[in-house]
Amino acid sequence: MVCLGNICRSPLAEGILSSKITGLDIQVDSAGTAAYHTGEKPDARSVAVSQRYGIDISAQRARKFTVTDFDQFDHIYVMDLSNYQQVSGLARNKIDRSKISLILEELYPGKNLEVPDPYYGGVDGFQQVYDLLDQACDALVNKIVSHG
Ligand code: 4NP
Repeated sequence: MVCLGNICRSPLAEGILSSKITGLDIQVDSAGTAAYHTGEKPDARSVAVSQRYGIDISAQRARKFTVTDFDQFDHIYVMDLSNYQQVSGLARNKIDRSKISLILEELYPGKNLEVPDPYYGGVDGFQQVYDLLDQACDALVNKIVSHG
């Protein structure tokens, strides 16, 4: 799960997906395309919104996406088109590039929709991001469970 700062959207995506895949052999992690917040906890507004649904993301720490993530993971889900561009720029070959997709493609295929950056907005934005990611992760888990 990749966003810009790895403190708002992708920590939520990591926490939400992790909560839905208990019992499945899947590793979930998150990272940012920028290093501004490396080592920091998730934004308090992300911690608060997930807490309301019984998900604790407070132990996560921000890190920057690196090229080795292409070797560690089968899928790289990005939140917006800027993330897509940044991550694609690090791809070494066709296999790396084939792993990258906008996470909302799981929910609205072919629409190129973005999870909006909530950092400079109010708490409503974090609820909206939570709802979008919750639905996208449901769609993703359903796909994994039905197709293996
Ligand atoms: P995120 O949100 O990419 O969802 O973690 C942001 C966090 C920090 C900044 C921008 C977006 N920032 O500019 O510091």
